Amino acid sequence: MSNLALSVRGLEKSFEMGGTVLPVLRSIDLDVEVGERIAIVGQSGSGKSTFLHVVGTLDHPTAGQVLIDNVDAFAHSAAQLDTLRNRHIGFVFQFHHLLPDQDAVQNVMIPALIGGELPSDARARAEILLARVGLGDRMRHRPGELSGGEQQRVALARALVRSPKLLLADEPTGNLDPDTAARMLDLMLELNEEIDTTLMVVTHSQALASRFPRRLDLEQGRFVEGTR
Ligand SMILES: Nc1ncnc2c1ncn2[C@@H]1O[C@H](COP(=O)(O)OP(=O)(O)O)[C@@H](O)[C@H]1O
Ligand SMILES: [Mg+2]
Repeated sequence: MSNLALSVRGLEKSFEMGGTVLPVLRSIDLDVEVGERIAIVGQSGSGKSTFLHVVGTLDHPTAGQVLIDNVDAFAHSAAQLDTLRNRHIGFVFQFHHLLPDQDAVQNVMIPALIGGELPSDARARAEILLARVGLGDRMRHRPGELSGGEQQRVALARALVRSPKLLLADEPTGNLDPDTAARMLDLMLELNEEIDTTLMVVTHSQALASRFPRRLDLEQGRFVEGTR
C-alpha cells in the first residue's frame, strides 16, 4: 500500500448558473505523500478554493475521485464523510471562523468533542496546542479579545486538534500584515514537521509559495507542476 495522504483522479468541478455550465477544475490528477508540503498557486478566480473544498470533502466533485488515507471519500454516505473529515482533515481559512461566544480553549476543543473524545482529553489536548502556538496566556480569551494573528493561531490549533493526516489552508495569511503572516507561516511549517501532518496551502502569494518545496500552478482548471 502506498504512503499517500491524498490521491486525486480525474477530478472535475463545474458550477451550473442559470443554464450555463462553468467549468472550474478540468481533469486534475494529484498524489500527495504523507508529510509533504505543497503550495497551490493561482490567480483570484482560478479555482483554488473550489479545489480545496472538494479535496477537503466540503463540496462534491462533478466527476473523479478523491482518496484520503486510501479511502474513496465520495463513495461513502454523508455521515461517513463527516466522520472521515473530522478524523483526517483540518482546515484553516482566510477568516478564522471561530465561534465568537466561546473562548480559545472551547473553540479548539470542538472538533475533538464532535469526534467523540472525552471532554477532559479534548481540553488537555487543546491546552497543549494553544501553548504550542504561543497562546498559553490567552486560553480564556474570546475571539473578539484576540488580535488577527492570535485568532489565526487559535484556528490553526483547532485544525490540528484531531492530529489530521491533511492540513488544508486557504489563503491562511491573506488577512494578516506581512510580519504576522510570516510568523503564521513559520508556525505552520514547524507544526507540519512536529505533528507529521501533510500541509497543502492554496494562495495567490508568490512569497508564501516560495517557502514550499513543492508547488503547483492552477491554470485554466489544470495543474502545472512548478519548476524551481
Ligand atoms: N458556488 C459557486 N457557484 C457558482 N460559481 C462558483 C461557486 N464557487 C466558485 N465559483 C466560481 O468558480 C471560480 C473559481 O472560484 P474560487 O475557487 O473561489 O477561486 P479562487 O479561490 O482561486 O479565487 C470563480 O469563477 C467563481 O466565480
Ligand atoms: Mg479563494
